[in-house]
Amino acid sequence: MPYTLLIRNCGQLLTLSGAATGQPLTGTALHDWQVLTDAYVACAHDRIVALGPMAELDAAQIGPGTRVLDAGGRVVMPGLVECHTHLVFGGNRAHEFQRKLQGESYLDILASGGGILSTVRATRAASEAELLANALHHLAGFRRYGITTVEAKSGYGLDAETELRLVRVAQEAGRQQPARVVPTFLGAHVPGPEYKGRPAEYLQMLANEVLPQLDPAEVPFVDIFCEEGAFSVKESRQFLEQAREQGFQLKIHAEQLHDLGGAAMAATLGAISVDHCDYLSEADAARIAANGRTVVVLLPLVPLFLRQEVYAPGRRLIKAGVPVAISTDFNPGSCPSKNLWLALSVACLKMGLTPKEALAAATLNAAWALNLQTEIGSLEPGKRADLLILDVQDYEEIPYWLGENPVQQVVIGGEVQDSE
Ligand code: NIG
Ligand code: FE
Repeated sequence: MPYTLLIRNCGQLLTLSGAATGQPLTGTALHDWQVLTDAYVACAHDRIVALGPMAELDAAQIGPGTRVLDAGGRVVMPGLVECHTHLVFGGNRAHEFQRKLQGESYLDILASGGGILSTVRATRAASEAELLANALHHLAGFRRYGITTVEAKSGYGLDAETELRLVRVAQEAGRQQPARVVPTFLGAHVPGPEYKGRPAEYLQMLANEVLPQLDPAEVPFVDIFCEEGAFSVKESRQFLEQAREQGFQLKIHAEQLHDLGGAAMAATLGAISVDHCDYLSEADAARIAANGRTVVVLLPLVPLFLRQEVYAPGRRLIKAGVPVAISTDFNPGSCPSKNLWLALSVACLKMGLTPKEALAAATLNAAWALNLQTEIGSLEPGKRADLLILDVQDYEEIPYWLGENPVQQVVIGGEVQDSE
């Protein structure tokens, strides 16, 4: 098949393939994937069709319709997969930054009516057009960082109508720009202000009135925040079971600030991912590892921004056979950053991952955390042509250049993106 796009002279082509086991990458497989040196990757329309050493490039497939990019010895890799964001919201919380610096905790600010609830007020007050413009602005930022797939949670409406509006905005934002947007329903972020002190009734309302209005084929995931001040393990279990019965795949925010047991509970329900896990116990890590499918999504920028000393035990999780992914958790409260490269660096510095493990966690394992592992996350013929050319010569430089954006060129679905 004639190539429509050819990237030649890749100093290192990070394929993220060769260690696949039909399951998310765990243990040694997290770093056993293949790096090709002096290589090429070729695409036809939106698909990867060939890759290999430059010496094996089939010149017969190059024609007048082939766009050729010369990587000039640089690193080429799959587009990053951002598997946990709160993309759609109004306003920001810069005013709370100062309170945090003066020592108020995340849960103190929430209990005083700030935090998530302050973003809920700003989000309810915003028009659908404003929310869409904000989401498109943030997606443009994600694309500049080489993020070609973005999960987008609702969760700042906390009433039926606004939550559905946030899901619609995420879907529309997906249609209006090239990165793939995967919507998740997080109406169960905290009990809506109208349901203060009645969390179970709020969840019942969501399960009975809102979930039936969503199509799991378009909004595949239902998520819940299991934490003090949000929902208990018992409430979370019941709600997730109801969501599963209605055909949704499951996610949970758990063990972010306390060890309540929510992550292991969700894993036993077959959750696709359990996210945060900074306070996860060893016993619960072993329970999650036992199911072989549930991905722990590490969010290293969150403890950093919340001034928390405790980080998820990444190294121990890998040793225990738990599949890990990395994401920013982009949101206005606990991580106002879209810099997934910085998250990789902090995962290495504070959670004990190696550069190669961190790269797998933000690509193929993040794809597993969205159940998109057959479509994205690695460079293999048949997969979607989401590719990055990075301005580094060696993958070890990626988490080393702290806070930099190494992206030189982004390809989404075989289309080279103009720099914005
Ligand atoms: O993933 N922990 C709960 N939800 C978000 C933060 C939301 C907010 O503070 O606005 C998180 O960290
Ligand atoms: Fe989150």
